[in-house]
Amino acid sequence: MNCVDDFRLRLAGRELVPIVIGGMGVDISTAELALEAARLGGIGHISDAMVPTVSDRRFKTRFVKDKLKLYKYNVANTDKSDVRFDLGHLAEATRLHVGRTMAEKRGDGMVFINCMEKLTMNAPKETLRVRLSAALDAGIDGITLAAGLHLGSFSLIEYHPRFRHAQLGIIVSSLRALQLFLRKNARLDRLPDFVVIEGPLAGGHLGFGMDWAEYDLATIVTEIREWLQAEELNIPLIPAGGIFTGGDATAFLEQGAAAVQVATRFTVARECGLPEDVQQEYFRASEQDIEVNGISPTGYPMRMLKSSPAIGDGIRPNCEAFGYLLDSAGRCGYIEAYNREVAKHPEAKKVAVIDKTCLCTHMRNFECWTCGHYTYRLKDTTRRRGDGGYEILSAQHIFHDYQFSKGDTIALPPDGDSSP
Ligand SMILES: Cc1cc2nc3c(=O)[nH]c(=O)nc-3n(C[C@H](O)[C@H](O)[C@H](O)COP(=O)(O)O)c2cc1C
Repeated sequence: MNCVDDFRLRLAGRELVPIVIGGMGVDISTAELALEAARLGGIGHISDAMVPTVSDRRFKTRFVKDKLKLYKYNVANTDKSDVRFDLGHLAEATRLHVGRTMAEKRGDGMVFINCMEKLTMNAPKETLRVRLSAALDAGIDGITLAAGLHLGSFSLIEYHPRFRHAQLGIIVSSLRALQLFLRKNARLDRLPDFVVIEGPLAGGHLGFGMDWAEYDLATIVTEIREWLQAEELNIPLIPAGGIFTGGDATAFLEQGAAAVQVATRFTVARECGLPEDVQQEYFRASEQDIEVNGISPTGYPMRMLKSSPAIGDGIRPNCEAFGYLLDSAGRCGYIEAYNREVAKHPEAKKVAVIDKTCLCTHMRNFECWTCGHYTYRLKDTTRRRGDGGYEILSAQHIFHDYQFSKGDTIALPPDGDSSP
């Protein structure tokens, strides 16, 4: 019987362990987690979601405070079109986050950054160009374009000196999305170096509608692989979403996948950014505790624990400090939902908003507990502690379980000690 270690991912003339830890914003896939994946010979992702906030937390910068100070006059205003990101600060925050991470990289693997198009930041083109360029400037090994079709993203960086050398890939959830991307970028004569195919069981935002349950990752992978073969295009394919064991991963590799992208298993790693009490919620979750809902203002369905504090909270929109989801006209679905509730209950000190959430604030504070479909199986990957909680695992333990375990087996951490 094969295991993941019998395969290698060939990328940029190198041979890597074919395990990619997916990007998890906001700073859930920390630099520490990504660096472990690289040290172990695979690929880890940091995320550029809300990077000024992440920089403030990691490097004691003051980007958020300064922005809030500048726009304080607008806090009670329902019109957020004034709120702009300082592009210089955005570049500086990205360079700090990426630069410091890359400086610490050890081992034969790579570190990529996950860039979500849906973070429109009140100036979609300009802010995305700065984020992509600054990440390349700071030496990131590769960029994974996420949460959006990214039809114009390659052209934003086509004159960057690293455009043809850095590893650039995209996440799609359908053949159609990939076809659109390739057609729109044909003039650049630059194919993506890899394509992550994310199925309906993934964590975070889903590239499907609320009918996500009607789709199946293996079918989409086959469809894309056969089309690429017919077009004589050779692009490494990386399935993602619900790949929970080494055996699951091996099955995709045996069918021709170049690597797998995984995330949920690593939400309970010591190196992951989630606070430990939230990690215990992930461990405790049962299948019934997980839902796909429409509360994200991005318009994409999102999978999360039903007990997420973000659900039903009615805080005032926090766009002067954050504002990452404002569209080019300064609108966000949460602002509309919040204003509607305030108008309905003018006397209320605090309103409840059920249909949308202030995603920036809640992701920033680890209060939106997004997770993959199989989160309810995390409890089977560790041991119970004497106090009833679950042992937090090392990223190395989880990585090696994917790399070496066969079939349905999941390796438990050594008894009484979750260290590698
Ligand atoms: C907590 C969490 C946060 C995530 N955040 C992002 C994100 O910011 N951007 C993104 O492209 N994908 C995000 N994802 C999706 C993962 O990168 C990955 O593709 C997917 O979850 C893989 O499926 P699995 O979790 O079943 O292994 C997130 C997943 C999780 C579990």
